[in-house]
Amino acid sequence: MNDTNKPTILVTGGAGYIGSHMCVELLQSEFNVVVVDNLCNSSSASVEAVQRITQKPLTFVEGDICDQNKLDEIFRSHPIEGVLHFAGLKAVGESNEKPLAYYKNNIYGTMNLVESMARAGCKTLVFSSSATVYGTSENAPFNETEPTSATNPYGRTKLMVEQFLQDLHASDPEWRISLLRYFNPVGAHPSGEIGEDPNQIPNNLMPYISQVAVGKLPHLNIFGDDYPTPDGTGVRDYVHVVDLVRGHLKAMEHLADEPKLAIHNLGTGQGYSVLDVVHAFEKVSGVKIPYKIAERRPGDVAQSFADPAKANEELDWSAEYDLERMCEDAWRWQHNFPDGFAKAS
Ligand code: NAD
Ligand code: UFG
Repeated sequence: MNDTNKPTILVTGGAGYIGSHMCVELLQSEFNVVVVDNLCNSSSASVEAVQRITQKPLTFVEGDICDQNKLDEIFRSHPIEGVLHFAGLKAVGESNEKPLAYYKNNIYGTMNLVESMARAGCKTLVFSSSATVYGTSENAPFNETEPTSATNPYGRTKLMVEQFLQDLHASDPEWRISLLRYFNPVGAHPSGEIGEDPNQIPNNLMPYISQVAVGKLPHLNIFGDDYPTPDGTGVRDYVHVVDLVRGHLKAMEHLADEPKLAIHNLGTGQGYSVLDVVHAFEKVSGVKIPYKIAERRPGDVAQSFADPAKANEELDWSAEYDLERMCEDAWRWQHNFPDGFAKAS
């Protein structure tokens, strides 16, 4: 049952990796939570785990953001004051093979959402954007004024949604919109009950290392050791998923001041190489991570890390957790649930 004294937030994609961690923070910060998720890349077991961790209920609606009637019904049934919009497809490689699925889910889905919001008079939206909008720029650290570009359909969806939300705000300045550009979210909730649960062989570094550590994969392939970085491997700005979702609460507070469209990077500002991550993971887990040096992965940049000053100053947000803590929490989740939510449920 929802508490009528608390504001209600709609979390799209709330069964997913970042969305489920967001739900924990929201419930623990005295919000009512409604989740809409079509479970195309997640399991309802994560929603159950969120309720176990927080000992608080949430409303789960299995539905697609491309389904306008479903969204309208959600807004009619709940007094939603704001939307945290995580739903979308996110695999860069797959987006090259299935561009239309990406444009439909990420762009059309977001347009649908915004139309339902406008009809319901709910004009507060936080959108999950990505550092991918900095394209192939070599100017790291990136600040929010860095020119944007995209090199694949996934990146183009993020860029196009950012652009149409800016047009929307220009046409109706009553909207309160936050575009959050995530760097590399990793780690898991410290309870070890929720975490990243890739459907197939992981594309991303941290879940790949975790699966090597737990014996599901034989070794890590390091994509290139000849980049112009201190040890030759790619450098990224890894940010703990709990820090990341706390940034969303700060973004909502910032929007509460007055209507605006704001853009913020969410990263630590610190770059780590692939080998730094391997060594940190080995240290906290006590498990050796075998690796081989492989070809560079097409589309990868040598280094990407944030200038987080704008989020530090305007949102009063900065990341608290260091790389070892990210690895420790990722490892706890992987160790508890080697087969992810399939095992958990
Ligand atoms: P995820 O796949 O774990 O979560 C996304 C959720 O959205 C899933 O539960 C999926 O079932 C749901 N979903 C997808 N399409 C839907 C639709 N049409 N209707 C309803 N639900 C739908 O991904 P995540 O890592 O939690 O990412 C969340 C958001 O953050 C995404 O928009 C992603 O692009 C963005 N992002 C993620 C990263 C990252 O590295 N994880 C980096 C930058 C930005
Ligand atoms: N890497 C490996 N081996 C692997 C996986 C990754 O060596 O098996 C390397 C990559 O080459 C890169 C680093 O580890 O140097 C990080 O790679 P990830 O795939 O974990 O992350 P990316 O920075 O490539 O991509 C992530 C998200 C994208 C998003 C991008 C920018 O997955 O969705 O950050 O925000 F677009």
